[in-house]
Amino acid sequence: MTPPVFVAPSLLACDFGRLHEEVRRAETAGADWLHCDVMDGHFVENISFGPAFVDAAARVATVPLDVHLMVERPDHYFPRFVKSARIITVHVEARHDVAKTLAAIRAAGCACGLALRPATAFEDVVPYLGQIDLVLVMTVVPGFGGQPFMSEMMPKVRAAVDARASLGLGFRIEVDGGITAETAALSIAHGADTLVAGTSVFAATDMAAAIRGVRGG
Ligand code: DX5
Ligand code: ZN
Repeated sequence: MTPPVFVAPSLLACDFGRLHEEVRRAETAGADWLHCDVMDGHFVENISFGPAFVDAAARVATVPLDVHLMVERPDHYFPRFVKSARIITVHVEARHDVAKTLAAIRAAGCACGLALRPATAFEDVVPYLGQIDLVLVMTVVPGFGGQPFMSEMMPKVRAAVDARASLGLGFRIEVDGGITAETAALSIAHGADTLVAGTSVFAATDMAAAIRGVRGG
C-alpha cells in the first residue's frame, strides 16, 4: 500500500520575522505538514531555531508539525518538542541509543521518524524499521537550505520501499533537500511519498502552484 503524497514546506526557508503569516500562507497554499529543521551547531554546522520557535509555529498551525532534529543529543532534547510536534525525526548517526530514543518519543505521544545522511548506508536504519512511522532519506548534506538535490540517493528510497514491502510495514518515506517539481517527480517515481521543500516553495511567487508542482499535480 502506497500512502498519499504529502508536501511538507520547511519553515527554515520562511521569513522568520513573519512566522505566523508564513504558517498561514503555507497552509492556505496546500501544505499537508510543516517541516521544522532544528539545528544545534554540533551535529550540523548551522544553528537554526529551537523549541520556542516550534511552539510559536504551533500556536497558529492547523496541520501537523514534522520536527527534524539535527542535533547531537536527540534523546536529551526531544522532550522539549513533544507538546508542539506531531512527528519527531532523529538521526541514526547522532550520539544516542537509537532504539531507546524512538521508543521514548512514541511513549511521549508523538509519531517517530529516523533520518539518514547522504553518507550513511540504508542498512544502518534497517534494525529500527519496525519501530518507526517515517524514514527520512536526506537528499542533501544536512545543515543548510538551498543546496542541490543528490539524485544518487534514489537507490536508498528504493531500498526503503523494498524493505517496507518485505517486512510488511507501513512507514512513510520522506525526502528532504533540493526538492523542486522535477526532483520531487524523480523521488516519487522511486517511491517517496513525503516531500520536504524549503526554498522552492517559500521563494515561489505562487506558493500554491509550487506545492501542486511538488505533489505532482
Ligand atoms: C537541510 C534541511 C532541509 C532544508 C531543505 O539540512 O533538513 O529541510 O530546509 O531546504 P531546501 O528545500 O531549500 O533544500
Ligand atoms: Zn529537514
